[in-house]
Amino acid sequence: MNEIPVRPNNLEAFWMPFTANRAYKSSPRLLARAEGMAYYTNDGREVIDGTAGLWCVNAGHGRREITEAIQRQAAVMDFAPTFQLGHPAAFQAAAKIAEHTPAGLDRVFFTNSGSESADTALKIALAYQRARGESQRVRLIGRERGYHGVGFGGLSVGGIGANRKQFGALLPYVDHLPHTHAPEHTAFTRGQPAWGAHLADALAGLVALHGDTIAAVMVEPLAGSTGVLVPPQGYLERLRALCDQHGILLIFDEVITGFGRLGTFFGAERVGVAPDIITMAKGLTNAAVPMGAVAVHDRIYRTIVDQAPAGIELFHGYTYSGHPLAAAAAVAAVDLHVGEDLPGRARAMEGYFEDAAHSLKGLPNVIDIRNMGLVAGIELQPRAGKPTDRAVRVFHRCFDAGVLIRTTGDIIALSPPLVAERSHLDRIFGTLAEAIRAEAA
Ligand SMILES: Cc1ncc(COP(=O)(O)O)c(C=O)c1O
Repeated sequence: MNEIPVRPNNLEAFWMPFTANRAYKSSPRLLARAEGMAYYTNDGREVIDGTAGLWCVNAGHGRREITEAIQRQAAVMDFAPTFQLGHPAAFQAAAKIAEHTPAGLDRVFFTNSGSESADTALKIALAYQRARGESQRVRLIGRERGYHGVGFGGLSVGGIGANRKQFGALLPYVDHLPHTHAPEHTAFTRGQPAWGAHLADALAGLVALHGDTIAAVMVEPLAGSTGVLVPPQGYLERLRALCDQHGILLIFDEVITGFGRLGTFFGAERVGVAPDIITMAKGLTNAAVPMGAVAVHDRIYRTIVDQAPAGIELFHGYTYSGHPLAAAAAVAAVDLHVGEDLPGRARAMEGYFEDAAHSLKGLPNVIDIRNMGLVAGIELQPRAGKPTDRAVRVFHRCFDAGVLIRTTGDIIALSPPLVAERSHLDRIFGTLAEAIRAEAA
């Protein structure tokens, strides 16, 4: 059997994603092993995971139940097509997911990532509008600072300038709502800010501009990747009402907020707003095998399927939609969420987590702290003329001191596995506080 090398001898071939390749390869940091709340570096150091990998290992690392489910499935059947065929694990996984989605969202389309989920959701929205005789509805609305992955659909509807600028004009017929970041009104708010619901009214402005040509609005209930923007109280409710009023589908991108992150199975439940479509990935398999999914309201499924002539109803899918190993992992991961009440654990830990996050107020250069569920964003004053530099240096200090955090711009995002104990949170926030202080010295 080939051993996995602890220290690769060639770092050049792998063109690393969303990475400063030159900087990384001149000073690489390698993770070799993971268990529970921790990674271990190739030289054997423990690094507490303050970010659940990339917002995805919600049940903690190396869960035996998931590993064994994957092993069992691999031994029985490695792959089966889901085009005009099927296999039990995919049906079982879809049914399990549907048990936890908001009422009615019980049709599940499988993808392999959050990006594919975003593009799939947008395509389903367009197909639905066409199937119900509203084929003029070709416009897709996103939000500034939104992140919906890197496919052309999600990238176009997404609103992070740095991700878009290398790739030309992207999709036509896309428009954006304003983002909800307004530190002058909301800095250091615990949970959902009281200010900002009116920002949803920008959708009425877009309807005035575009008439009945809007198919769907896609937003993250809590925007994660852009640096943790918590939805203002009442904001998502207003978006829902405006979508209903104007025949527009509401898509929640729950790639981060799904699977317990906000203290409920899906974020929709926490914010009390039911969208028409939910995208998910990451925590769906606890990240043990790549998988994404799109949960669609039965009404949408029926409209598309019933309107179609005999034969294939939706010309869309991936070779690996519902891949057996991913489906087995998803079933095991959902079972863990239920069996260990991981959303409930997150809810129970939220107060302690919030206090720990806000205890950083007053440290040098900390200009905002925001949180909801087990997500916190700590925004630092950028260094003059050197944006991102301060946060990157804090990241390195934390890593070297045994804690993994995530940075985006000059914002530190924390999203530990939902199995975190108080002692882990103490270590994460304690190390971060030290690093922020040291960086200012
Ligand atoms: C809200 C949201 N949508 C989509 C994606 C893209 O997911 P992936 O990287 O699996 O394509 C992400 C990834 O962070 C995300 O946070």
